[in-house]
Amino acid sequence: MTRTVYLNGDYLPETEAKVSIFDRGFLMADGVYEVTSVLGGKLVDFAGHVKRLQRSLDELEIRNPLTEAEWLEVHRQLVARNGIDEGMVYLQVTRGNPGDRDFAFPPEDTPPTVVLFTQAKAGLADNPAAKTGWRVISVPDIRWGRRDIKTVQLLYPSMGKMMAKKAGVDDAWFTEDGFVTEGTSNNAYIVKGNRIITRALSNDILHGITRAAVLRFAREAQMEVEERSFTIDEAKQADEAFITSASAFVMPVVQVDGAALGTGKPGHVATRLREIYLEEMRKAAV
Ligand code: PDD
Repeated sequence: MTRTVYLNGDYLPETEAKVSIFDRGFLMADGVYEVTSVLGGKLVDFAGHVKRLQRSLDELEIRNPLTEAEWLEVHRQLVARNGIDEGMVYLQVTRGNPGDRDFAFPPEDTPPTVVLFTQAKAGLADNPAAKTGWRVISVPDIRWGRRDIKTVQLLYPSMGKMMAKKAGVDDAWFTEDGFVTEGTSNNAYIVKGNRIITRALSNDILHGITRAAVLRFAREAQMEVEERSFTIDEAKQADEAFITSASAFVMPVVQVDGAALGTGKPGHVATRLREIYLEEMRKAAV
């Protein structure tokens, strides 16, 4: 089925949406993105995603081309026009097309390029992987120093995913100076007893929108949350582990670098948090 996508104000068939070869997103990965899940035809934590979009754009001094209400309207239009019940809306804003290649930023009146498209994913909430859990390996984190900005420079995360695939597992956890930063496209957590441990927010990791919601729900459910760095050795000794992201929600992790965690099955904390997250987010979806 040909999707309807959004490009700079127009809704077009995906085959007709064209971006210039001089676009800064294409030549320099000079752009940011967001991924918002859709459950029951509604947007999950939309407010969180547009807020982070604004922050990413501000950090890179790219003008936000749409208002929050306009972003919401485009998201809703795409969900409706493509009949999405479960899936994702991908959004990307680049510094636009200066008409040539130049390291210097183009004049401020260069319009940013705005692209949105949907991805239908039946069984996003009822993902069978949540019943068996993911296995992860650790790989060195050699990304740049502003991982808090959600840029489209995804080459190394993509290579990390391939290293995991080649190793026959589901994902890779990045490590730096002996500590886990995050997963290739998700935030990483370990659980010891009733305590959830996850790296504190800084420029070293993406400030996950799912992370914020899950930690709020965990505290409300009287679970203890400790925001601090942990090592792979500590992860191997943990009772359980999990990751969070807009597309995987809360996904249990059952093996780290070949070591089975706890019983080797998804843990209670991760399983419960996934349930709470999905229940609460369905209620609040817009
Ligand atoms: N990835 N860390 C990284 C490096 C990420 O790429 C992501 C999201 C997260 C989790 O953030 P959030 O909870 O806001 O989705 C953490 C998205 C889903 C992606 O690239 O597809």
